[in-house]
Amino acid sequence: MTLQLHDQTVAITGAANGIGLAIARAFLEAGARVIAIDLNAEALARFQSSDPDRIEVICASVADFSALKAGLADRTIDHLVCAAAVGSGKMGFPFWNLDPGDWSRVLDITLMGTVNTVHACVPALLEDDTARKSVLLLASVAGQIGSQTDPPYSAAKAATINFAQLAAKDFAPYGIRVNAMSPGMVKTELNRAVFESSKEANTTTYEAWAEEKIKRVSPLGRWQEVDEFGAMAVFLASEQGRNITGQTINIDGGQVMHS
Ligand SMILES: NC(=O)c1ccc[n+]([C@@H]2O[C@H](COP(=O)([O-])OP(=O)(O)OC[C@H]3O[C@@H](n4cnc5c(N)ncnc54)[C@H](O)[C@@H]3O)[C@@H](O)[C@H]2O)c1
Repeated sequence: MTLQLHDQTVAITGAANGIGLAIARAFLEAGARVIAIDLNAEALARFQSSDPDRIEVICASVADFSALKAGLADRTIDHLVCAAAVGSGKMGFPFWNLDPGDWSRVLDITLMGTVNTVHACVPALLEDDTARKSVLLLASVAGQIGSQTDPPYSAAKAATINFAQLAAKDFAPYGIRVNAMSPGMVKTELNRAVFESSKEANTTTYEAWAEEKIKRVSPLGRWQEVDEFGAMAVFLASEQGRNITGQTINIDGGQVMHS
């Protein structure tokens, strides 16, 4: 099975840390060039220095459509991965623990940041050999189960899944595939922030909270690792994924099971 992506370029948002960074590294391993987009200039520079010939960086917020359009203009893009996201930093249980105003920043970055990025890449995606191109949106199990943990985050991820499906239909006549990928629980900064906003943060450690939670919510009972998302992202972008579009691939230890 060949997963080689030589002579292909992938643009990845949220590429400076966590799952986005692991996906960027997996694409490099498969031979691709990477355009890494993130807000974190320092982490971007560190990543770029690991392979300056094949990594370009764009320091911008995905909430800023003009900056994305300017940064991505006239580029060759074969694959796009949207991983940038934030949570509200507050706990639901119930949703009225948040104010309606707490939703705006989460929706602007986590949902509209993805929409902005895909829009900004449309001209590049529709150019040249479209049949080998793909888009992958990072969603979440939270968007499939009415998760009460962080209501605006759950809603943004549900909308992301729907956007992946409609974009898959719109891009299909060009041969471009669009999928969503849903992590269950991965020990990244984003996940730690969920713990820090919980009431358990006053009485236990992140490790103890994580250990108990994963056993409770996941049939396989183990945390997902960032590399698993890199491997799946490369597979979906490769020729091996040529008939996969409009799908939400869950890497979650069985937390959500499709019928
Ligand atoms: N970690 C988990 O358990 C988990 C679970 C489900 C879904 N996800 C999803 O996976 C994706 C990656 O999450 P992660 O856990 O690696 O998060 P992370 O916090 O480790 O990394 C997110 C990256 O996005 C960047 N970012 C944040 N706001 C940005 C903005 N406005 N513009 C540009 N970049 C911005 C951050 O600087 C960071 O580098 C996200 O879409 C997240 O919702 C993660």
